Amino acid sequence: MNIRIIKVLSLLPSSLLLATSSFAATAPTSIAKLYEESFLVGTAIKSGDLKNPPALSSSLSCREFNAFTAENAMKWEHIHPKPDAYDFSMSDQLIKMAEQCDAKVIGHTLVWHQQTPAWVFQDSQGNTLGRDALLARLKGHIETVVGRYKGKVYGWDVVNEALDEEGNLRDSPWRKIIGDDYLIHAFRYAKAADPTAQLYYNDFNLYKKEKVAGAIKLVEQLRNVGERVDAIGMQGHYSLFYPSLSEIEQSMQAIIDAGIDIAITELDVSVLPLPDDAFSGAEITQSFAAHPVYDPYTTGLPEQQQRQLAETYQGLFGLFLKYAGNVNRVTFWGSSDADSWRNNWPIRGRTDYPLIFDRAGQPKLAHQYITQAIN
Ligand code: XIL
Repeated sequence: MNIRIIKVLSLLPSSLLLATSSFAATAPTSIAKLYEESFLVGTAIKSGDLKNPPALSSSLSCREFNAFTAENAMKWEHIHPKPDAYDFSMSDQLIKMAEQCDAKVIGHTLVWHQQTPAWVFQDSQGNTLGRDALLARLKGHIETVVGRYKGKVYGWDVVNEALDEEGNLRDSPWRKIIGDDYLIHAFRYAKAADPTAQLYYNDFNLYKKEKVAGAIKLVEQLRNVGERVDAIGMQGHYSLFYPSLSEIEQSMQAIIDAGIDIAITELDVSVLPLPDDAFSGAEITQSFAAHPVYDPYTTGLPEQQQRQLAETYQGLFGLFLKYAGNVNRVTFWGSSDADSWRNNWPIRGRTDYPLIFDRAGQPKLAHQYITQAIN
C-alpha cells in the first residue's frame, strides 16, 4: 500500500478510520511510529537509492523511519567535488524523498578529515593552504551547503570525529592549518547559514570515558564562546562483543549531567568476530585481511547469535528509553542487512547482520525485541 496513505490514515479521526479499517488493520506499525512519543528513529540512505530512487511504496526506509541521513551523499567529496563545483543531485533527491516520506533530514557532515578531497587543503599550485584561506573555503562550503537547505535540514553533524581515542583533538589537516578554533568557526558558520537547524558534534567510541570527556569539554568550550551545540552525536558502531551497556550508560549520563542532549546517529551491531582483541570504533581507513575464520555466517545467522543480537538491541533501546527525555533521535546506519557498510568494514566482503531488518527486508528477532521494549 502507498506509504502516504498509511501515514495519512494514521492522522484521520477514528470514525473515519472505521470505513477503512480493513486497510488500516493490515498496515504494519513502523518502528518510528512505535517510538514517536520518545524519539525519532532514523536510517541512513545509500547513494544508490538517491541516484536511482526506488518506488516509495517498496522502500523499507520510507515505510519504517522518520529521519534520513545521507550515508555518503552530503560528504564533501560528493557534494563539493571540485573547488568551483558543487553536486547537489543526490542531496536534493534526499530532501525530496524525505518530504514524500514525511521524514526529517539530518545533514552529514560539514567538517571531517575523511571523504574530503585533498584539494580542500591546497592552493591551485598544490601547496598547503594558509589559515585564512582554509577558513574562507570552509565558510564558503558551509554557507553554500547549509544555505541551500535552510529550513529543510532538521540538524547538521557540523563536525565529525575531531577527537582521538584519548579525547584530545586529532591532528587533522583542519587543526594543523587553522588551529584548535576550527570547530568554533564551523559552528559559527553553520548557525549563521541556518539559525533554525540543530547543530551536533558527532563521534565514535564515545562509550569510552576519556573520549566522552573530551567531547563534553569540546561542547562546553564551544558554548563558552557563544556557539550553539544542540546535541552530541554518539555514532554507535557496536558489536556483540563491546561495549557493555553500563559503559554506554555512564557516557550517556555524563553527557546529560553536563546539560547536553544526545543523538544516537549511526547505530549498528556487528555479529562477526573481531579482527583483533583491541578492535573497536569506526575508523574508516582501518582494514584487515579477509579470512574465512572472520566470516563464519555466510549462509545465515545461527539462532544463538540471532538471539544475542536481539538481546543487545533490547538492552540498547531500554537505555535509550530510560533517557528518552534527553535522547532526541536514534538513527540506524542503514535499513536492511544487505545495505550495511559493516559487510565491508573493517574486512571487505563479509556477511554481517548488524541491523533490525534482514536481507529480504523482513523484521528480525531484534526488531521484535525492540518492539516489545516500547510496549
Ligand atoms: C561510512 C559509509 O557507511 C561507507 O559507505 C563509506 O564508504 C565510509 O563511511 N562514521 C561516519 C560515517 O561518520 O560517515 C561512516 O560512513 C561510518 C563511520
